[in-house]
Amino acid sequence: MKLLIFSLIVGVTWAQGIVPGPCPDFIPMTDFTVKPYLGKWFEIARVPMVFEYGQTCNYAEYTDRGDGTVGVHNAGLDADGTFTEIFGFVETTEVPGALALHLDGVPFTGSYNVLDTDYENYTTVYSCQNFLGLGHMDQAWILGRRNTLTLEEMETAMRAFEKWGIDTQRFVKTIQEPCEFP
Ligand SMILES: *[C@@H]1O[C@H](CO)[C@@H](O)[C@H](O)[C@H]1NC(C)=O
Repeated sequence: MKLLIFSLIVGVTWAQGIVPGPCPDFIPMTDFTVKPYLGKWFEIARVPMVFEYGQTCNYAEYTDRGDGTVGVHNAGLDADGTFTEIFGFVETTEVPGALALHLDGVPFTGSYNVLDTDYENYTTVYSCQNFLGLGHMDQAWILGRRNTLTLEEMETAMRAFEKWGIDTQRFVKTIQEPCEFP
């Protein structure tokens, strides 16, 4: 089982392209607080991930679970229009803005780093995993309270990544219209 999971991770990793070298040095938003971050966020752009290929209309909902953790509900439409969703939760860590992500059925803890957000319009999320001796693999998302961001908000979001040398050329806009949920 362990081997299977390992080969799965490596398989996924190779498919997405492991990048040589370690994760970039970055510091998540130092004054991040969870409460104003709760609620619904639309995915505006993402660095394409194998498990998200062809998906449109993605959104995330974060809820207070009352026990210090935050409920996560990610949803969207698959390429064929089927509704797809996954649930989980995030925990805060001793580093503000660095959250630990647990998704149902995913056998490892992901990292969810808020680089910058104004809570009311946009947020920028970065996740990076080192694979010793091989390199690193990262994921990035720009989310919005509305299903579109202004050019100015988009530029602010991009800067949150560029500040740490994270390549924003890889971002692909998420289709948010039309969205017909079955
Ligand atoms: C969010 O955007 C609105 C509309 O552009 C603006 O009035 C508001 O100040 C922004 N919120 C923050 C926290 O910057």
